[in-house]
Amino acid sequence: MLSPQITEKIDYELTKYPAEQSQAAVMSALRIVQTERGWLSNESMSEVAQYLGMPEIAVMEVASFYNMYDLAPVGKYKISVCTNISCMLRNSDEIVDHLKHKLGVEFNQVSEDGKFCLKEGECMGACGGAPLMIINNHTMHEFLTPAKVDAILDELK
Ligand code: FES
Repeated sequence: MLSPQITEKIDYELTKYPAEQSQAAVMSALRIVQTERGWLSNESMSEVAQYLGMPEIAVMEVASFYNMYDLAPVGKYKISVCTNISCMLRNSDEIVDHLKHKLGVEFNQVSEDGKFCLKEGECMGACGGAPLMIINNHTMHEFLTPAKVDAILDELK
């Protein structure tokens, strides 16, 4: 069941749209639920569908299309490294290899301590700061080097 904290936030999002267009708040609702629960289970998506009065499949289509939604647990910190062309040309491969080695994971795996999950990200529209990564869909770190990655991980531990 969606918590009162979640429904209060979703209700606020719903005020932004006409009453008969509640499905317009689906992306916000998924973000709110994911922030509260860490990831989006099938049950969570069903609850969102029910709350917004839309088909479950439509909610799942949205959640599975955008890579900021996590359909499996991602640990405390989800690290998404952009590997698209600008970042690739600025050595994102080196950053990815360094993170894999340091965390002991491959893409889409969670580290043994449950803290970190490594994801391959798409262009984040910040190519001028390549190579870069974003943590928990929120905090972006640009101009990465292995040493800079180490300092960021040390801060998160
Ligand atoms: S290619 Fe990495 S942010 Fe655009």
